[in-house]
Amino acid sequence: MKLIIHGGFFSEYTQSEETKILKQTALKEIIQKSYQYLLLNSAMDTAVFAVALMEDDPLFNAGMGSQIQKDGKIRMSAAVMDGCTKRFSGVLNIESIQHPIHVAKSLQMESDRVLGGEGANVFAAKTGAPFFNVETIERRQEYQNRLISSGQGTVGCVVLDKEGRLAAATSTGGKGFELSGRISDSATVAGNYANDHCAISCTGVGEDIVSCALAAKIVTRVTDGQTIEEAFKKSFHELKVFDGFAGAIGIDAHGNMYHKESHPNIVYASFDGLELCVFQ
Ligand code: GLY
Repeated sequence: MKLIIHGGFFSEYTQSEETKILKQTALKEIIQKSYQYLLLNSAMDTAVFAVALMEDDPLFNAGMGSQIQKDGKIRMSAAVMDGCTKRFSGVLNIESIQHPIHVAKSLQMESDRVLGGEGANVFAAKTGAPFFNVETIERRQEYQNRLISSGQGTVGCVVLDKEGRLAAATSTGGKGFELSGRISDSATVAGNYANDHCAISCTGVGEDIVSCALAAKIVTRVTDGQTIEEAFKKSFHELKVFDGFAGAIGIDAHGNMYHKESHPNIVYASFDGLELCVFQ
């Protein structure tokens, strides 16, 4: 049993060294709680559990603390993929929901599994999710100062459970100050993908991640026989061609964990029950 989580990039100009330490401390607590949860639960449920904890923490750009779009509204996206069933489900541009990742998970058993905008909100209401204001004073101030922070802060988790099942979950408040209607990578197979060989969650600039098909590409390479390290290196090399801005975490069916980023300033934590690592 192993898991790795990311709290996205932290901005070099809107946040301080202190924020980085706060984020690392938060990830440390979240990964330990999530590992305890994994002892009794599946990879899929644990990935959702970990991401929901990060959605609750306004330090991260997902759920509470999500960034504000150009028209002054917050729209969030989240997705899950169960490597065992190979089912992807997600929500795009959902509003006023505490846990977009729970709505994404609820779609797993539906025939229509990726919903956007109003449809996603109607579905969330049917699951009983109440209206929840995810805006914070800090995000409103950033918006008022017209700070665009390049997709920093998306959160994600990839897990291998005791049955050998893999799962990936990713949630984001987007780039900040983007046009209404813009689609994030997080609820696409470029940002979040898993099968029975590998599970990947990405963060960074959605446009770059989609252009590279990053998560699906790494998973496909591992499925076709590359090691997870080789698959990451080759895929990040391809991102370089257009100076793509991205980070990703991954785990394979043997429990090998890997992470890589195109630029510095991203926070990760991993735990296998013995060794807890926090990276930046
Ligand atoms: N990776 C998050 C976004 O670009 O919206």
